Amino acid sequence: MCGIIGYTGKKQAEPILLEGLKRLEYRGYDSAGIAILKNGTIEVRKKQGKLHVLADELRRLPIEGITGIGHVRWATHGIPNEINAHPHLDEKKKIAVVHNGIIENYQALKKKLITEGHRFISDTDTEVIPHLIEKFYKGNLTDAVRRAASLLKGSYAICCFHKNEPHKIVGARCDSPLIIGLGKNENFFASDIPAILNYTQNVVFIDNAEIAEITPKSYRIINYKGKKILRKPTRIKWNISQAEKEGFKHFMLKEIFEQGKVTKNILEERIKKNSIHFEELALKNTDLKRIKNIAIVACGTAFHAGLTGQYVLESLTGIPVWVDTSSEFRYRNPIVGKETLAIFISQSGETADTLAALREAKRKGAKTLAICNVLASSIARESDGVVYTHAGPEIAVASTKAYTAQLTILYLLSMHIARKRSKLSEKDFNKLLLQFKKLPHILEKTLSKYRKEKNNIANYAKLFREYYLKMHHKSTFLYLARNINYPNALEGALKLKEISYISAEGYPAGEMKHGPIALIDENPWVVCIATKSAVYDKMISNIQEIKARGGIVIAVATEGDKSIRNQNINYIIEIPEISEFFSPIVVVVPLQLLAYYVAREFNYDIDQPRNLAKSVTVE
Ligand code: AGP
Repeated sequence: MCGIIGYTGKKQAEPILLEGLKRLEYRGYDSAGIAILKNGTIEVRKKQGKLHVLADELRRLPIEGITGIGHVRWATHGIPNEINAHPHLDEKKKIAVVHNGIIENYQALKKKLITEGHRFISDTDTEVIPHLIEKFYKGNLTDAVRRAASLLKGSYAICCFHKNEPHKIVGARCDSPLIIGLGKNENFFASDIPAILNYTQNVVFIDNAEIAEITPKSYRIINYKGKKILRKPTRIKWNISQAEKEGFKHFMLKEIFEQGKVTKNILEERIKKNSIHFEELALKNTDLKRIKNIAIVACGTAFHAGLTGQYVLESLTGIPVWVDTSSEFRYRNPIVGKETLAIFISQSGETADTLAALREAKRKGAKTLAICNVLASSIARESDGVVYTHAGPEIAVASTKAYTAQLTILYLLSMHIARKRSKLSEKDFNKLLLQFKKLPHILEKTLSKYRKEKNNIANYAKLFREYYLKMHHKSTFLYLARNINYPNALEGALKLKEISYISAEGYPAGEMKHGPIALIDENPWVVCIATKSAVYDKMISNIQEIKARGGIVIAVATEGDKSIRNQNINYIIEIPEISEFFSPIVVVVPLQLLAYYVAREFNYDIDQPRNLAKSVTVE
C-alpha cells in the first residue's frame, strides 16, 4: 500500500526517484508524485494514474536538484486525484512529506490544527503530517519529526525534507516498512529493497517507533525519546537483474518460469547430507517435541499455501493443524497457548492482518514462526523464529513463485518436525527426500512445455475469450479438486480473478453436489484437477457429472493417462508424472499460466491489476 523513496547525494534526484518508484509501483499505482529541492524552493510534480503519466509530465517539466522524495499511491483516504496524491506540503511550502500507511487519529489532529490556523487542501489523512512538523519545527527537522510522530496513531512510514536543511531527509516508521540504502556520497530511503538495488546492496532496517535521518555521507537513528540507536548495515544478496523483467513481457510470467530454479535453490540450501537444516528456526528440539497443535495463519495466496501445509504437516507429524485467514484469527479470540506452534506465512512479511495475528498469538503465549520472503520484514522480525523462502524479489501483484517457495518450505518443515518427533523413520525420511529432490526437474519439465509462445494453455485462453464474447460476458470459471490439491483449486481461482476480473470459484470437488452443481450449464468453464492420485476415480465421476449437464471441462491430467482421453473432456493440460504427495507444487503451474494467458487475451495490465496492491499494509 503505497511506496515511498528518498534520495540525497550528488546526482540529479529526479531519474533516481523515478526509477525507484518504478520498482515500487507494485505497492500502489493510482497516482504518483515527487518533490525536489531546487535552488531553495520545493518543486512538486504529481499526477493521477500510473507512474508513466508522471514520467511524461517530468519530461515536459523536469526538476533539477539533488535532494528529493517520491511516492506511488494506493488510495485510502480521498479519491485518487492530483490533490490527494503525495507529496504533501505544509502551508508555507517549506516541508514536503510522503507517507505509506493510515493515520487513524487524523481527524482529531486536523481539527486541532485547523483551530490553530492551519489550512488543508486535500482529503487525505497524510496532510496532517507536514502541518504537525511545521508546528514543531524550530530549526531541526529530525526533532520536529520526532515530536510530530509521537502524536500519530496508526501505521506509517514517512519521508520528508525541509527547504532550510537542503541535504537532509528524515524518515519515521511505525508498522509500515522503511529502509535506508547506503551508497557512496549518497543515501536513500525506500519502502522496499528493489527500489535502491541499482545503487547499493547495503541496507539499514528501521524499526518501529524510530526516526532516521540521512545526509549524503551519514545516517543516524533515534527513538521517540531522542535516544541514539546504533545499527549496522546488512548486505543484501539480491541483485538488480532479479528485479528486472529479463526479456519477459510481464513480471508474472518471469516469476512463473523461475519456479524450477527457486525450488532447486531451496532444496540445495536446506538439505545437507540427507538431513534438513533450518538455521534461523530458533525452535529447540525440546520445543518441537512439546507442540500439541499447530495454527497456520496467512492471507490470500499464502493462506492457500497454509491449507496445503495442513495436509502435509498432519500426515507427517500427526499433530493437529488448523488454518486461519489472518483477518479472522486476530478478532476471533483463537484458542492458542504455550503448546501451540503458530506459523505465519507472508511473502512481504508486512501484511497488516498477519502482523496483528502474530502479535495476538504471541500475547497468548504461543511459539511463533514466520515463513517470509522479504528479509528483515516486520513479521520476520517479530516472530520467535523465521524461515526465509529466498525466492528473490516478487514484483507481480499476483503471487506465483512465492507460493511454490512457501509450499517447498512447508514440506521441508513438516519432514523436519516429523523426524525430530520420531514420527518418520530414517528409511521413510530418505525415501521422501529422494522423491523431493526430483521435484525441481519435474517443475522445469512442466515449464519447458510452455516456453513457446504457442502452447495449448495459451490456446485454451484464446478459445475462452472467444466463447466469453459469444456468451455475452456470462462465462465464469469453477475450479474443482480433492484432497491435497484442493487448495490449488482455490489458488487457481484466485489467480484468475485477480488478473482477468472474471468470476472464479474454487471448491472441493466432493462439495459439488452440495451447491456448485447448480451453476453447471454451458456457461462456466470447469477446471478439474484429475492427476493420478488416490482420488482420481472420484474426480472422473465429478467430470462425468459436469459433462452430463452440458459443462465445459478443462482437466489437468497426468502425462500418459490414456483413459482420461475417453471422458469426452473438452481440453486437457498434462503435467509429468509425480507422486500425489508432492504434486501440489507442480499442479499449480498450469493454473497460474491459464490465469496469465486469459488476462493477456483481454489485454489487461497483468502485473498491476486494478484495485490491488502487492503489500497490504493497512487493514
Ligand atoms: C496473491 O496473488 C495476492 N496478491 C494476495 O492474495 C497475497 O498473497 C496476500 O495479500 C498475502 O500477501 P503476503 O504473502 O505478502 O502476506
